Amino acid sequence: MAQIHWQEAQHALQTGSMDLIHHEFVALTNALAVAADATEIIRLERLLGHCRDHFAQERMWMEISHMPSTEHHLRDHEAIMAMLEGAMRDLRAGKHGAGRNVTDRLVPWFEQHSSTLDAALAFHLQQGMHKQRPGIPAVG
Ligand SMILES: [Fe+2]
Ligand SMILES: [Fe+2]
Repeated sequence: MAQIHWQEAQHALQTGSMDLIHHEFVALTNALAVAADATEIIRLERLLGHCRDHFAQERMWMEISHMPSTEHHLRDHEAIMAMLEGAMRDLRAGKHGAGRNVTDRLVPWFEQHSSTLDAALAFHLQQGMHKQRPGIPAVG
């Protein structure tokens, strides 16, 4: 199964809180990719819980910073939640591998999503906070 190899130059968005969340996403995705049948469901549950919080946090950042044009970003999150919930249904129905298999789609998704939509959010937050408190990152 595919895994994400964190590279600071590529993945860090220089926003402490968002980078911490993304580190956790990477760790949980990688753990699911190598899960045994017996641990697959608990690792998918952890990733699902993480994604719920991760996406809710980003949504809150969008709202409090009045970020324009957030629909595409939010829809992208919803699509991932639907995919993970579908994998959970399959696992609960006894289909081993359904959790591991989603990581093959999650890895390219994260590479794309973090470098575009999340990067734009991070930039927006940094710009917004600089206007109020020069030199202090919004989500640092
Ligand atoms: Fe994110
Ligand atoms: Fe996002």
